Amino acid sequence: MALLQDTKSHNFLCLKAAFLALEPANCFISLARQTCGGSLSEEVQNFILELCVENSVHSDILFNSTYVKNILKKVIVAAESTCEVVVEGLYERFAKISALQEYVMRGEENKIFKKISFLFPFGTSHQSCLTNLVVSLHCSLNLLEGDTGCALWPSSLFLSEFILSYPKLFSEKVCFEVGSGVGLVGVALAHVGASKVILTDGDRSSLGNMQHNLELNHLTSDKVHIQYLPWEYATEIELSKYKHDCVLGADIIYDPKCVPHLIRVLCMLLKSKGGFMFAEETEASVAYIATVIRNKETFNYFIGAAEEAHLSIVDVTENQQPLNLLPYMLSYDRASVRLCKISYLF
Ligand SMILES: C[S@@+](CC[C@H](N)C(=O)[O-])C[C@H]1O[C@@H](n2cnc3c(N)ncnc32)[C@H](O)[C@@H]1O
Repeated sequence: MALLQDTKSHNFLCLKAAFLALEPANCFISLARQTCGGSLSEEVQNFILELCVENSVHSDILFNSTYVKNILKKVIVAAESTCEVVVEGLYERFAKISALQEYVMRGEENKIFKKISFLFPFGTSHQSCLTNLVVSLHCSLNLLEGDTGCALWPSSLFLSEFILSYPKLFSEKVCFEVGSGVGLVGVALAHVGASKVILTDGDRSSLGNMQHNLELNHLTSDKVHIQYLPWEYATEIELSKYKHDCVLGADIIYDPKCVPHLIRVLCMLLKSKGGFMFAEETEASVAYIATVIRNKETFNYFIGAAEEAHLSIVDVTENQQPLNLLPYMLSYDRASVRLCKISYLF
């Protein structure tokens, strides 16, 4: 009985997390149905109304009216289509938000605010005893060029799950990320106790957005430092000044034009520490790069160029699987992400 109750609470927690992460409406409805054995019961509708919608309307200046309106509409339509009773408050809230939306400024629709909740598996005793992590992020819905670094990509979800699953690899380490985008990985690194996190990107609008996200998550510059770093112009002196222990990257292998520059940056980062070649007794740093292989040719080009540059690449996706910390995120295809461990062959 207690176990059933716990499972139900966990399901409701997942539903709330899906709402905060702005999961697509069809995924949200599927999850809502799973929560109550297949139906959109009054209990689940009331939960959506009171604990998801009303909470977000009243508590957040960063409230996403377009998303909430769409969810309300889809819940109402889904319940009506299966002849379930629709809770009156859902219609009322939908009408109020529709009226309010008349005032929503045009041009702001592309920017959204979401909360990504990393939920440790229910009932497991995890090596780190880390607590659940909720990351607030301002990001863009536009995945096209110009806004790439302001959108959230699946590889950074995967890499964050990996960091939270293997905290000892990163705690008390200086961690250097390339192509950080919205900064999610940096927040995960700070959560596991990295001694210093350096987030870099070659796009200035990403850096502004990233800075804002760090502030949203109460991270100060002494803990997480942001650096403008276009790979094309990176120098050894610049890269060695942080004395990093490890390197990270998510969804950075996609543009063949950038591949040679990225390889050069990785070589410099993995070859040196603090501006000096590693002394024999010092441990060389490794890079963990998560990637979705969208274009095989580009990925193979990266592999070939990396080998020529004396980089060893090992696919550790199967051997070092992260915990599934985003069980509510039905839109996230974690199977599409590969994790490569890269080191320099001295
Ligand atoms: C697809 S986004 C991934 C962002 C983030 N890592 C994530 O997974 O959500 C690629 C990132 O790499 C950055 N990037 C692309 N080319 C770059 C270059 N030549 N130098 C530095 N950063 C670059 C982009 O600005 C962007 O932030």
